[in-house]
Amino acid sequence: MKNILVTGGTGYIGSHTALALREAGYQPILLDNLDNSELFVLDSLEKISGVKFPFFEGDCRDSEIYSKIHELYPFDSIIHFAAHKAVGESVENPLKYFDNNINGCIVLLAAMKKLHVKNLIFSSSCTVYGNPENAMVTEQTPLAMPESPYGYTKLVCEQIIEQVLNSSSNLSASLLRYFNPIGAHQSGLIGEKPVGIPNNLVPYITQTAIGIRECLSVFGNDYPTQDGTCVRDFIHVCDVADAHVAALKHIEKQTKPSLFKFNIGTGKGTSVLELISSFEESTGIKLNWRYADRRTGDVIEIFANTDLSNSTLEWKAKRNINDAMRDAWNWEKSLHDLNNA
Ligand code: NAD
Ligand code: UFG
Repeated sequence: MKNILVTGGTGYIGSHTALALREAGYQPILLDNLDNSELFVLDSLEKISGVKFPFFEGDCRDSEIYSKIHELYPFDSIIHFAAHKAVGESVENPLKYFDNNINGCIVLLAAMKKLHVKNLIFSSSCTVYGNPENAMVTEQTPLAMPESPYGYTKLVCEQIIEQVLNSSSNLSASLLRYFNPIGAHQSGLIGEKPVGIPNNLVPYITQTAIGIRECLSVFGNDYPTQDGTCVRDFIHVCDVADAHVAALKHIEKQTKPSLFKFNIGTGKGTSVLELISSFEESTGIKLNWRYADRRTGDVIEIFANTDLSNSTLEWKAKRNINDAMRDAWNWEKSLHDLNNA
């Protein structure tokens, strides 16, 4: 079995990807400093897969950690999820984000060079397109200054990776620009566990439905979209996980150092109101919501053109938003049981 180092491996997308890797016959080696995830994820992964995943508690900014892991579990490829991702916090404390996300990426690239690790799959975001003129973006859509310091770290890391690749003779990378990952594993054993009041729509919906929050505020109803609310490309987290396996297989096939950029979305825009309807339809629960003022910095409408990822990676999102809302709800109920146990 090929070892794959997965930084941020106990996090939301990292844990789902670890499972997908294992199912595809890889051995994921998880590295996480548990800043935004907990150890119980490892037990859940074992329950689902029947195997223990090697785990290292450590920080991506620690250059020594890579050599230590490489000695025990030699690896050729890294999937780099580890980063801070709270947009609001990044506005209040940009340096925290520059240090963790940008420094983390630099230290990792240096370790790759030192250890002759060939392949990098990097977690980027559609935030690199800013607020685009055309809602449907391709990988060729010009990049724009993101609205937040968090988004800026993604743009900078993409550029750092590109420039390091230009100067290197044996490094390949795939930059995966995720749209809006939502939902959870169908087992209900892993999912997203937001700290404090959720910023993101889906955790806010499920927390409202379970009674943790009183009412969902829908930010803005006068946008120039079909129903006045913002439009996003919501994609099931297990489809995002599968995209990593596809990107890994693709990069492993390369015979010369290469750089790829892929949109990881469904190709379909869904409005905030449509997502609420999908939640109500797939769970049978009536959600308490009301309109509120627009949220500063929100992109009006964005969704992926997925032609390139679909054809090159031979990957396509298979699950729909109803599947994602059903799984998000099951996960919220599991979390509720976990917290009340
Ligand atoms: P997450 O917070 O659930 O997972 C990130 C993990 O990285 C956490 O477990 C955290 O403890 C760990 N981590 C953070 N800094 C670290 C460090 N210096 N060293 C070691 N571990 C560290 O987030 P996620 O939603 O799984 O996101 C994964 C990646 O995808 C991030 O890079 C994020 O920016 C990117 N992304 C996420 C979304 C989204 O909506 N979830 C969208 C676009 C891009
Ligand atoms: N929304 C509400 N009410 C809420 C939360 C969100 O109406 O309580 C709306 C937002 O205004 C937006 C939509 O739901 O119109 C989606 O909001 P999210 O916060 O779930 O997602 P965003 O697209 O705004 O942000 C996501 C990631 C960010 C990333 C950004 C761009 O969470 O990390 O995509 O890639 F920077």
